[in-house]
Amino acid sequence: MAKILVSGLKPSGTLHLGNYLGMLKQAVVLQEKSYRRFYFIADYHSLTLKYKASEKAKEIFEMAVDALAAGLDPKKSTIFIQSHIKEHANLTWIFNNITSVGELTRMVEYKEKVAQGQVPNAGLLDYPVLMAADILVYKGEVVPVGEDQLQHLELSRTIARTFNNRFGKTFPEPKAILTKAPRIMSLADPKQKMSKSISRGCLFLTDSAKVIKEKVAAAQTDSHKEISYDPEKRPGISNLVLIYAELTNSSPIQLVKKFKGVGYREFKSELARVIDKEFKPFRENRKKLLANKSKVVKILEAGAKQARPVAEATMAEVRRKVGLI
Ligand code: TRP
Repeated sequence: MAKILVSGLKPSGTLHLGNYLGMLKQAVVLQEKSYRRFYFIADYHSLTLKYKASEKAKEIFEMAVDALAAGLDPKKSTIFIQSHIKEHANLTWIFNNITSVGELTRMVEYKEKVAQGQVPNAGLLDYPVLMAADILVYKGEVVPVGEDQLQHLELSRTIARTFNNRFGKTFPEPKAILTKAPRIMSLADPKQKMSKSISRGCLFLTDSAKVIKEKVAAAQTDSHKEISYDPEKRPGISNLVLIYAELTNSSPIQLVKKFKGVGYREFKSELARVIDKEFKPFRENRKKLLANKSKVVKILEAGAKQARPVAEATMAEVRRKVGLI
């Protein structure tokens, strides 16, 4: 039987190239393998940090639109909104009682957020328990995640094991499919990761051909003449070479050979073309979906309808095993 794959996409506002290569593209590639797939928009997870309520609904909806526009296919994957399936939260409560607070306060992401000045609300602390429930409510066996989520996934395994030991074998111990997200740096400051907070150096998936061209042309490089790949010494040009490599399924070394004798300006205009070619179908799909919101709503409803009976069955089993009536 096909293994069960579960993954959550956290809504994060306008997506950029780094997000795209890190999660969406991988999700689309994984669709070609034989898994039973559950993908949801992790709206509950996006409430743990301070946010504007007036912008939230749009952000959640557009994350779903972006996932579909990037090629996540409702015929191949069950796509839905996390909070539409109440069993995620119900199972979180059960798991809370077999999870130690000490373990949660040792989570790197939690510690980082608190160090950045976030008020440590209970939701922020409990974030990885909800994540375990997300996965295990579908008895997920494989979970595509970036490196930053490995510690959380390890906790999901601990929770599954603890539950099984105490209440009888119920859950698999989910394994990571590590998505190797390339470290895409800001075009404006190649020492920093690409992020929407430096928008000049950020390639948004919605940028037009003209904007892409301008941003790439203005990308910081150095005073050398030859294209090369040396992220330590020549971070600017190396970042551009890496982007080119990722989008054309080639390697930086191959590209350095290919562009031997070619100047920065010509390389940049070629790169802008490659980026636009990748983003264009996304932009077009996105526009179509935003013009047909009811279609998106229907896809999400159909996804929830497929996911719900699976989650309900797990929760019924859990209730029985833990002694609820
Ligand atoms: N925490 C994940 C992130 O920040 C998102 C997420 C929520 C998730 N629930 C999940 C990922 C379950 C995989 C499985 O990216």
